[in-house]
Amino acid sequence: MNDDPVRDLAHLGRHALRTPDPDGTVRYFVDLLGMDVVAEEDDTRYLHAYGDYEAWSLKVVAADRAGPAWVSWRTVTPPALQRRVRWLEDHGHAGRWRPPDQGMGSSYEFADPDGHLFRLYYDTDRYVAPDSRRPVLPTNVSAYAGRGANVRRLDHVNLLSREVRACRTFWEEGFGLRTFEIVRHPDEHDEAAAWMSSSIQGHELIYTQEHTRSQGRLHHLAYLVDSREDVLRAAEVMADARIAIEAGPSRHTAIQGFYLYTREPGGNRVEVAHGGYLVLAPDSEPYVWSAEDWAAKPSWGAPLPPEFHIYGTPDPDRQETRQ
Ligand SMILES: [Fe+2]
Repeated sequence: MNDDPVRDLAHLGRHALRTPDPDGTVRYFVDLLGMDVVAEEDDTRYLHAYGDYEAWSLKVVAADRAGPAWVSWRTVTPPALQRRVRWLEDHGHAGRWRPPDQGMGSSYEFADPDGHLFRLYYDTDRYVAPDSRRPVLPTNVSAYAGRGANVRRLDHVNLLSREVRACRTFWEEGFGLRTFEIVRHPDEHDEAAAWMSSSIQGHELIYTQEHTRSQGRLHHLAYLVDSREDVLRAAEVMADARIAIEAGPSRHTAIQGFYLYTREPGGNRVEVAHGGYLVLAPDSEPYVWSAEDWAAKPSWGAPLPPEFHIYGTPDPDRQETRQ
């Protein structure tokens, strides 16, 4: 009998995103995705989607270049946080404690094998709706937004990595993340993609292959909507705002989420997502696609454009200048 699995991570947590066009980025998330600015500090703004139970889910940071500042996980308890920090320090991944940040408690920052920064935290301030946003149901945290794409909450993040397998095993061994699907790399020495989760949700953290020499890049950040129809609505919203649609609306083969991809004005790719299967079986094994089967995968919908697999942020070909 194997040992009990590690279940110290509760869910993917708050994110911080860098942008060279902070005003444009905030307008995109507020006017087009339907989120609200809930706090401001110098050139940083904190945003909340109407279903986020925490006080905010996205921190928009003005910077010279687009890209991820950090991604975080909330742990299930304070001792769980200490256990994961101990694992990091015992296995050569020591980081440093960071101070509380607008209702996010003290967090421990460290890097994954590709150099993306992550933070672990437990203490958190819950969202408290102002009178104007108080929901009729006490089980909701905020009134229904009904604005723009009307995203409900943060859903998942996709990072690019030159070593997908190393990143996958790092999270499996150190944090008990479950992997639901893997795509083998044609050379069989590495993997082209892996879809991982701390829960039954089909994906919270995705790694896909980095095709440039860069490290630590973001492929996309995804916010959830309630239905496939809402993804189509998001396409109408983006089209009228003259925001180019890079891919979708369509359905992915892996995890089977319905998607729409655009890039916010700072250059970071953002997905409006719905669905994706749930994995109830506690003893599930990842489905492993060979490179050949993946190339001939059965599916429907529009093919993803080649640029979809290459572009990420920071973009080495784009000389962003701060607006
Ligand atoms: Fe996605």
